[in-house]
Amino acid sequence: MEIIRTENLTHRYGIGTPFEKTALDGVNISVREGEYVGVIGQTGSGKSTLISHLNAILKPTEGKVFVDGADLWSENKARRIETRFKVGLVFQYPEYQLFEETVYKDIAFGPKNMKLDEAEIDRRVRESLRFVGMGEDCLDKSPFDLSGGQKRRIAIAGVMALEPKVLILDEPAAGLDPKGRDEILSRIRDYHKETGSTVLLVSHSMEDIANNADSIIVMEGGRVRMHETVDAVFERADELIAMGLDIPQITKVFIDLREKGYDVRTDIYTIETAKREILSKLTGGASRD
Ligand SMILES: Nc1ncnc2c1ncn2[C@@H]1O[C@H](COP(=O)(O)OP(=O)(O)O)[C@@H](O)[C@H]1O
Ligand SMILES: [Mg+2]
Repeated sequence: MEIIRTENLTHRYGIGTPFEKTALDGVNISVREGEYVGVIGQTGSGKSTLISHLNAILKPTEGKVFVDGADLWSENKARRIETRFKVGLVFQYPEYQLFEETVYKDIAFGPKNMKLDEAEIDRRVRESLRFVGMGEDCLDKSPFDLSGGQKRRIAIAGVMALEPKVLILDEPAAGLDPKGRDEILSRIRDYHKETGSTVLLVSHSMEDIANNADSIIVMEGGRVRMHETVDAVFERADELIAMGLDIPQITKVFIDLREKGYDVRTDIYTIETAKREILSKLTGGASRD
């Protein structure tokens, strides 16, 4: 089942000013329910503008956005609000939006606004905290006493607590050290597996997406250049490089080998496939597993 669709989605900033800019230009995407989609593209390619349309923070200049079959900008206001609740958006650097005096209150803020009862709010706070891998001992602390990475996890938990059908995260690993990045990305992967909800993860790094996503949307200059499975996108690794995208280290190694004259595949992005490819070359094409 399709959960998100855009039709000719176009967005222009600063219409009628000297700074008018077409940030999205006729974007058509379709996302299946339960899918984990990576959205990749260089800075300025339109990723944030695209996802801001999916829960109606931005209104299309042209085109349409459908969530769970409903037009986000339909005339029926009640339906529109209900539809927006289906999409949870974690902004870039979401930790700047923490403001409550305790971690508990911060995560509970969204569910409270949804007018849920105390027991349900409590359940959601604890479950979301578990999803982001934090212990309950932090619940009574001030969010401002936590480390940067921990604050970010609390902010993500606050959106997970809305239990959206679609969770969208804009560069959730940006600015973290490699350990912090891996931690956040694996938590999001587990959340996806456990809840079965749809996840859209925006990044400018293929490394963040390759091992997690089912499919990848590649944006360039406000347009969708590719929307395919991870394997199919990696078969076009040379195009990704030409677009200036960061590809995984292991892919670079195989592209270098190819350039040096070795007859190897270049659509490799996991250590496991790399190992198999090398073994099969060493044994003359006969892979042993
Ligand atoms: N509020 C804004 N006003 C004017 N131009 C903007 C605004 N936000 C983004 N843009 C421009 O729109 C284009 C797409 O930006 P954005 O969606 O933020 O890309 P990305 O998230 O891929 O970096 C860029 O050229 C950017 O400068
Ligand atoms: Mg952005």
